[in-house]
Amino acid sequence: MDVFEAILGRRSIRKYLDKPVEEEKIIKCLYAATWAPSAHNSQHWNFIIVTDQETRRRMAEIHRWGRFMAESPVVIAVLGDPSKSSFWREDLGAAVQNMLLAAYAQGLGTCWMGVADTPYEEPIKKLLGIPENLRVLCTVALGYPAESPSGRREKLRRKLHWEKYGVQREIKEPAILEKPP
Ligand SMILES: Cc1cc2nc3c(=O)[nH]c(=O)nc-3n(C[C@H](O)[C@H](O)[C@H](O)COP(=O)(O)O)c2cc1C
Repeated sequence: MDVFEAILGRRSIRKYLDKPVEEEKIIKCLYAATWAPSAHNSQHWNFIIVTDQETRRRMAEIHRWGRFMAESPVVIAVLGDPSKSSFWREDLGAAVQNMLLAAYAQGLGTCWMGVADTPYEEPIKKLLGIPENLRVLCTVALGYPAESPSGRREKLRRKLHWEKYGVQREIKEPAILEKPP
């Protein structure tokens, strides 16, 4: 799949089919994640693959905005080590986006749920046995999508400034793929 098709076609999926995800596909998503850039190539990321239904149910109970973790057959917890990189959030963010795109390219749906600095971080660390020194940037729901929501983005030209802040002009914007091939 063309990279633009993946970038424009990916949507956050919050409804999933009751169908397991092949291990090979999960591993491919995480392999893509590890090819993200990281500051000083520190690669301090770790990923916990959660498929156990009871664990997912408890994660869904903890995270107010992630109730669908009980339905997605897989949840990935994304961990970083702030002692290894002061840019740990950026490192993990890049890895997560790779993961989402790799999932989409394989016909899978995902949804990123913010965890770091929320009241959900400590309970999730406890539940998954995560060492004190590590942080949880987010959890990612993964599975076969049971919905195809449309996306909404603000006009790019409103975000663009030419040479100096505040200097804006018309541009020809690329069309979004409403129904990706
Ligand atoms: C840092 C971050 C945290 C997010 N947290 C949640 C969340 O807790 N629950 C949720 O349903 N979606 C969450 N999302 C998904 C966003 O709501 C979603 O990306 C946004 O509405 C744009 O929709 P799209 O991904 O379909 O393009 C999060 C996204 C990011 C980047």
